[in-house]
Amino acid sequence: MELPKIAAKSPIRVELEKGKKYAYCTCGLSENQPFCNGSHKGTGFSPTVFTCDETKTRGMCQCKQTKNEFGFCDGSHKSC
Ligand code: FES
Repeated sequence: MELPKIAAKSPIRVELEKGKKYAYCTCGLSENQPFCNGSHKGTGFSPTVFTCDETKTRGMCQCKQTKNEFGFCDGSHKSC
């Protein structure tokens, strides 16, 4: 599989709402980072869909190197 595009080398802070479903972009092509806008079609990537269990502001990965299962920043951007 090809590598994802680095959308940015810093996380983006977003407020996630409890009970709401999100689709995190894993390909890096979305113009609506950090969320999927359908641009992954034909790439082999697919979004990570998750439902938030609490309302909280989180830093979400834009370098697409995070190992976090929901796309939350794990500091990987510091080495890419
Ligand atoms: S646009 Fe990147 S996963 Fe959908």
